[in-house]
Amino acid sequence: MERKPPESRQGLSHREVPRVVGLLLTMALLNALLYLCLDQFFSSPRRSTEGPRPCPHGYFKMGQMRNCSPWLSCQELRTEVRQLKCVGEGAVKRVFLSEWKERKVALSRLTSPEMKDDFLHGLQMLKSLQSKHIVTLLGYCEEDNTILTEYHPLGSLSNLEETLNLSKYQNVNTWQHRLQLAMDYVGIINYLHQSPLGTRVMCDSNDLPKTLSQYLLTSNFSIVANDLDALPLVNHSSGVFVKCGHRELHGDFVAPEQLWPFGEHTAFHDDLMPSYDEKIDIWKIPDVSSFLLGHVEGSDMVRFHLFDIHKACKSQTAAERPTAQDILDTYQKVLNSLGDAVPSQTREML
Ligand SMILES: Nc1ncnc2c1ncn2[C@@H]1O[C@H](COP(=O)(O)OP(=O)(O)OP(=O)(O)O)[C@@H](O)[C@H]1O
Ligand SMILES: [Mg+2]
Repeated sequence: MERKPPESRQGLSHREVPRVVGLLLTMALLNALLYLCLDQFFSSPRRSTEGPRPCPHGYFKMGQMRNCSPWLSCQELRTEVRQLKCVGEGAVKRVFLSEWKERKVALSRLTSPEMKDDFLHGLQMLKSLQSKHIVTLLGYCEEDNTILTEYHPLGSLSNLEETLNLSKYQNVNTWQHRLQLAMDYVGIINYLHQSPLGTRVMCDSNDLPKTLSQYLLTSNFSIVANDLDALPLVNHSSGVFVKCGHRELHGDFVAPEQLWPFGEHTAFHDDLMPSYDEKIDIWKIPDVSSFLLGHVEGSDMVRFHLFDIHKACKSQTAAERPTAQDILDTYQKVLNSLGDAVPSQTREML
């Protein structure tokens, strides 16, 4: 009698089929997991540097919003926004923490009718300069003199020291993070100097506290410009220059060309006051950056490495000062060269 060959040699037994299927499924699952891990590993750093895709003009996205939403209209501002409490006030706007669809937002209201031109100029700038450097505009109503923007709970840069002294923020109170803030700041000035609306000068900055109050600290410790009410245009080729206000300025925070040049025995007269260009912003950068660097371990070491570029910013001749892009490049080089040097090593480098 011929022996029947064992089933296993000719094909799979009924008992083995589910096991092979199971094995194949497991392998497919492992492959998928491996793919996901590698994808995460290779693409997440790029995603984090690229940031979210910006919305088209007239739309906004904030926080966890998935899609871009159109700027809120007068009607929506009136019915959907609930004003909660005043969180800031300047010469032009009174700012209220408010609520829109369970999200915190900032509602700015014009303080007095005389400031309407500045208010409208600021709104125009906000609308046209939306980018990662500028606070996100959510809506506006010219008729009611209101502007709605993203709310930043850490407030303006005036609160920086107070915020960084809180124990929960000790991990970011390092020279590396603080130099990064200085780079954000110079990045904003650079953006304004090369903006889609031409070279814009940050005029609302006649002293350090005033300058700091025009920028907000975001919850992920970056800086955005908030108050764009005084951004006059410079155009070198057509000889258009600016004057920041109509009053006499004093002190050494402002650039020397902003001071009355005809001596104290000649009364100030706005018509006789010469105009100037965007290099007045460059003069102020060392003071703002020095404030941002603060006094943590390593701050003085960074200041030492920025000494030459900051000295150039303080050139009496405006045209000899570097551009914001030059400064940004130098800051980047310093950050790269110092890398993750630990504080004890950094002291030895001085
Ligand atoms: N989106 C926001 N989130 C949190 N705080 C804000 C926001 N916008 C404004 N503030 C607070 O309100 C203050 C005043 O705002 P802003 O500088 O826009 O007013 P202003 O009247 O234009 O000022 P200025 O006197 O400089 O013209 C800011 O310094 C900041 O403390
Ligand atoms: Mg302001």
